[in-house]
Amino acid sequence: MEVARYRPGEDAEPVFQAYDVPLMDDWAVLDGLTHIKDRLDGSLSFRWSCRMGVCGSCGMTVNGEARLTCGTFLTEYAPGPVRIEPLKGFPVIRDLVVDIDDFLAKLSSVRPWLVREGEEPPLTAEYAQTPEQLEAYKQYSMCINCLLCYSACPVYVLDPDFLGPAAIALAQRYNLDSRDMDDRFDVLNLEDAVWGCTFVGECTKVCPKHVDPAEAIQRYKVSAALRSVLPWSRR
Ligand code: SF4
Ligand code: FES
Repeated sequence: MEVARYRPGEDAEPVFQAYDVPLMDDWAVLDGLTHIKDRLDGSLSFRWSCRMGVCGSCGMTVNGEARLTCGTFLTEYAPGPVRIEPLKGFPVIRDLVVDIDDFLAKLSSVRPWLVREGEEPPLTAEYAQTPEQLEAYKQYSMCINCLLCYSACPVYVLDPDFLGPAAIALAQRYNLDSRDMDDRFDVLNLEDAVWGCTFVGECTKVCPKHVDPAEAIQRYKVSAALRSVLPWSRR
C-alpha cells in the first residue's frame, strides 16, 4: 500500500510511504491500514469506528476515488499497489484525517431537525406517520455523513462556499417529512446552495448509501422555482 503521510506545520508537503501488506481475501482497505498501524508503523493516523458502513468516518481516497475504506476490499486492487490519500477537498489535520468543521457548520445551517410552528425543540409530542409518509423522505435519511459526495463534487472542490450535496439532501430529508413545517428556502434557494449545483452527478455515483443527493438537489430546484411563482407552495 502507498499511503499519504503529512503533518501540517512540520512537513513541507505530503509524501507517499510504501508498506507491505498481505493480500487477504477478506481484508478491506481499512484492515490493511490497521495492519500498518498495529504491526508496521504506529504513527499513521486515520479515522474509523464501526467497520460496517454505518458511522461514515473511514472515507478516504483510494486509487483516486472517494470510498469507504471499510467497504472496499484489497482484492479489488490486486496485485497492487493501492494508493490511499485523504478525502479531497478538505484540509488535512494529519495523514489521512481531514477537518470536517466546514461541513458541520453547513449541516447546522439547514436546520436538520423537525421544525414545528409554535413548538420549540426538543419536541416531546408524538406525531403519527403512515408508511407512505415515511417513504417520502426515508432515502435521504440514510446519509451517514461520510462526505464522499463532497470529495467527489467538482463544484465544492472549486467553491468551498457551496452548501454541498449531503447538507442539501439532509435538508430535503426534513422538508419532505410530513411532521416538518419548514421548507428551508432561506438557506437552500441561493447561488451557493441548490443553484450552484451543475448536476454533474458524481455525488450520487460515489454515495455508499444510495441517498442520491443529486436528485435531492434537482427536486428542490423544482420546489424553489414553484415557490417563487406560487409563494404559498412550500414543498
Ligand atoms: S449523501 Fe451519501 S456520500 Fe454524501 S455524506 Fe451522505 S452517505 Fe455520504
Ligand atoms: S468504519 Fe464506519 S463507515 Fe467505515
